[in-house]
Amino acid sequence: MSLYSNLLPVPSGILEVASSPVCYTEEIVTSSLQFSLIIPTYNEGENVQEIVKILSQLLDSIIPGEYELIVVDDNSPDGTWKLAQELTIQYPQLRVMRREQEKGLSTAVIRGWQVARGKILGVIDADLQHPPEILLQLWQEMVQGADLAVASRHVEGGGVSEWSVVRRFLSRGAQMLGLIILPEVIGRLSDPMSGYFMVRRDAIVGKPLSPVGYKILIEVTGRGKIRWIGEVGYVFRERQAGASKVTWKQYIEYIQHLLRLRFDLWPVKRFLRFGVVGFSGVFVDLGVFYVLRTVLGLALTRSAILSSEVAIINNFLWNDLWTFGDISSRQKGMGKRIKRLLKFNVVCLTGLVLNVLLVNFLFNVLGVNEYLAKLIAIAAVTLWNFWFNLKLSWRVTDAQK
Ligand code: GDD
Ligand code: MN
Repeated sequence: MSLYSNLLPVPSGILEVASSPVCYTEEIVTSSLQFSLIIPTYNEGENVQEIVKILSQLLDSIIPGEYELIVVDDNSPDGTWKLAQELTIQYPQLRVMRREQEKGLSTAVIRGWQVARGKILGVIDADLQHPPEILLQLWQEMVQGADLAVASRHVEGGGVSEWSVVRRFLSRGAQMLGLIILPEVIGRLSDPMSGYFMVRRDAIVGKPLSPVGYKILIEVTGRGKIRWIGEVGYVFRERQAGASKVTWKQYIEYIQHLLRLRFDLWPVKRFLRFGVVGFSGVFVDLGVFYVLRTVLGLALTRSAILSSEVAIINNFLWNDLWTFGDISSRQKGMGKRIKRLLKFNVVCLTGLVLNVLLVNFLFNVLGVNEYLAKLIAIAAVTLWNFWFNLKLSWRVTDAQK
């Protein structure tokens, strides 16, 4: 069997890491490893031998025999995959994937993780711009319990070497944009652009990843179950050999990526359910109002207040059971449920006051048509109610893990 027929199989289909490696070959995977490090390459023939050598030395010093290096090459014209495959004779822990159909850095990394055997998965650039020694500190973070350990240019000990003002500006600008579009993800990372990190396999198992372009870390942080993030400072070195593949296209893709994640991470399903429940509340409100006013003959204000309160309780019960059922099932007990109901009440009553104020403002100050004013107010208050109830009444941080 020739050396080159021994390449790793290329997974296809959705980009999702399973709990054990996807395996197409006869090769028997008996035990898992501690660590799998992906080295994505495109025309890195001049660097591949050096990086494999250095990484092997480093990892042999901490977890000998317990790790693998996986070069994922996109059929580089310079034959990087071939050179890498030749190295496997000397470095049996090295495996090589040659992709001929799919292309791109992020997907290369995920395809690599899909065939990886490690409990911890990592990625490092092949061009030696990521200082290999930092790997030991990243490993230390993981050992201490981090779900994600990121090499960062923007913490103590980090930086860039000889970047032009323009590149620094673009890099920071991209980060600012990310903070605006995706604050809950980008805000957790001092260097969201980093392509040098480790993640616990468990944190991303079964999460379909859908990256656009270069920035796989954003995808992992956004979709993974990441509680603890460790960061290690590093200085982004200058390239000694080969050329960067970054062009203006990567900036466009980055923005596309942010937007896609934004829409995927918004709680659309919950919001729709919340809307359905709210709609049901209108009928409860009207029905109870009818009974109190017409059947029992109560005063108007009293009937209105009572029927609203019944509707609020109705909405609470359905939301607690259905819309936020996954969260409330982790906040057990009558006491907690009553606490949620009280918060829900406060948020909804505040919403009611806002509704009245907004209608008045739109109609009296801006001269908007009455019915349009009411419609706008309903939409705004629905958003208000949803958001504050999501953040206050059914706060995930209150839920037991
Ligand atoms: N398989 C594969 N396919 N590998 C690729 C591709 C591709 O399409 N494009 C780039 N690579 C590999 C390169 O060979 C290199 O090993 C690594 O991915 C990074 O590519 P560079 O072109 O060297 O990128 P860079 O140095 O400008 O960009 C880096 O920017 C960040 C800092 O802002 C990113 O790669 C990050 O990793 C880095 O931290
Ligand atoms: Mn580079």
